[in-house]
Amino acid sequence: MPKQPIEIRPIAGALGAEIFGVDLACEMSDDIIKAIRHALLNHLVIFFRDQDIEPVHQIAFAKRFGNLIEYPLVKGLDGFPEIVPVVKLPHERANFGGLWHSDTTYLDLPPMGTILAARELPPYGGNTLFANMYMAYETLSEGMRSMLDGMVGISSSAKSRVSKTRENLMKTSSKVSDSIELMAEHPVVRTHPETRRKLLYVNFGHTVRFKNMTEAESAPLLNFLYAHQTRPEFTCCFRWLPGSIAFWDNRCTQHNPVNDYHGFKRVMHRVTIAGERPA
Ligand code: OGA
Ligand code: MN
Repeated sequence: MPKQPIEIRPIAGALGAEIFGVDLACEMSDDIIKAIRHALLNHLVIFFRDQDIEPVHQIAFAKRFGNLIEYPLVKGLDGFPEIVPVVKLPHERANFGGLWHSDTTYLDLPPMGTILAARELPPYGGNTLFANMYMAYETLSEGMRSMLDGMVGISSSAKSRVSKTRENLMKTSSKVSDSIELMAEHPVVRTHPETRRKLLYVNFGHTVRFKNMTEAESAPLLNFLYAHQTRPEFTCCFRWLPGSIAFWDNRCTQHNPVNDYHGFKRVMHRVTIAGERPA
């Protein structure tokens, strides 16, 4: 057990907890890191408040949980390629990732987690919603669960509004051609590699269809699953304040940043931790 125990305060019934008693700008003991990982596995998304950190601290903290990966379609900060700035300017209408999704499931190895730090916030709004994909799976009927168990979903980087936002970003900070479409196949029901619990692993942002089925054939069932998996009682809402940091387990959660602050600027710094092949 850590010598100086951390305090964990859940923010909702489904998922999400605030962690107090740690300073992310300081080097932490292995015991503290273990306690934080444990809290992440238990609460799926964890939040830190009043943190005064620089990019170098965010990178050092993230590296305690695994190798960092660079975002495939967006360029990082100068001098800190692992940090992607997530920005919405006052005149912009679309926000980065502005719909329910799990990050970059169009990769063969999607990230295990993402750590997002608030840098500049609008005066109101700009909250981020999270949803619990264990609950989404466990609340399906036995018949639906056994049907989904053997199915495979196809994710694409080109789907929907997420990609439009990225195309906008790519005009100014591209490192790959915007004609590239990344695609990956993953099981519709995934087993979390650490908790060994099953979870629902399709998402509105990136899943385009089931394997061996057309988009039209897949749509009715996918649309049902998208609506089911984001039922309010499976979610939490995180209100950002200066110094707030969120760390989500990207394997068993989805998130949706609320786009309700037109006319104001919002700047976040994002790092991504490498994950394993979904199975
Ligand atoms: C992301 C994302 C959420 C937010 O960085 O992957 O979806 O609140 N951002 O900005
Ligand atoms: Mn995201």
